[in-house]
Amino acid sequence: MTTFVRNSWYAAAWVDEVGDAMVARRILGEPLVLFRSADEGIVALLDQCPHRLLPLSMGVVAEGRIQCGYHGIEFNGAGRCVRVPGQDMIPPTAKVRTFPVVERFGLVWVWMGDEEAADPALLPVVERYGAPGWALLDGGYQHHASNYRNIIENLMDPAHTTFVHKGTIGNPAATDEPVKVGKLDGGLVAYRWVENSPPSPFDRLVMEVTGSVDRGQFFYYYLPGTSCVDIISIPAGTEREDEVMDAKGMRAFSYKFLTPEDERNTHFFWLHLRNYRLEDEEWAAGLRANLDKTFLEDAVIVKAIQDEQDRTGLHQRTALAIDRAPVMALAMLDKMVREEGAAVAAE
Ligand SMILES: [Fe+2]
Repeated sequence: MTTFVRNSWYAAAWVDEVGDAMVARRILGEPLVLFRSADEGIVALLDQCPHRLLPLSMGVVAEGRIQCGYHGIEFNGAGRCVRVPGQDMIPPTAKVRTFPVVERFGLVWVWMGDEEAADPALLPVVERYGAPGWALLDGGYQHHASNYRNIIENLMDPAHTTFVHKGTIGNPAATDEPVKVGKLDGGLVAYRWVENSPPSPFDRLVMEVTGSVDRGQFFYYYLPGTSCVDIISIPAGTEREDEVMDAKGMRAFSYKFLTPEDERNTHFFWLHLRNYRLEDEEWAAGLRANLDKTFLEDAVIVKAIQDEQDRTGLHQRTALAIDRAPVMALAMLDKMVREEGAAVAAE
């Protein structure tokens, strides 16, 4: 049984990756090739020539068509064969499956399910994207050798930060303040406010604050594979309206888009928006490196967990109070997978 939701947009590549080169990427277990076609812009095709099944990504892109590396058969962006060297007749079966794509947030999103249902309105929402007063870091990509469910558990669990991220974002004086959990439309949020803390050196560096601060941490999960962490520091007592917090505090939105490669591997795309140090390129480069390092610390953990799950067939032997948000997230995901499976079976 698969753990995947097919009717969803998945981040497949950064738009910049698909220049003159093709990108071969396995998504939900299926091999795709993305390339920039002459007729349809960036497209996603099944990475398989219909002739001898050689991956098309072993060929070349020439004049906006993809050419198989075995016998030079050429396909356009619609997956239609437009040339067979050595013969004039193009067999009607010489076509390649295409997958709907849309470009948004600098990413190419691919729809792996029922083509009729591929509605761009179902793309994730990215808060503050393109808004004035916000700086963007994007292009983040890591390969995590774990099922995406383990990564969702990690992302909905702030309690690991102190221990996993000692060298990056972890803080030994981290709060024991428990997280509250709230259901949302198509997801959930785990959050907490830690009030009246002394400002950290980092707080002092990026905002004007002398007294204590209120810190908000919001961990959002949206089905099936989007995570957003909203981190807020505001002078203690500041009104908690979005506009007020954006203007008076330090705030960042950290997005991860999880695209299952297969049952044991996940494409981990990330982007980050912040409302401080907007023009500081050196700062931004340091922040990018720190985020990358932080997420790699998680990658080590989830890989080791996946290996042990594979070895034992177990998920966990005991449960803790901190599991509440991860358990709810995975229950929602399981329900979505089940419902999609039931709908397909009913057809
Ligand atoms: Fe982490």
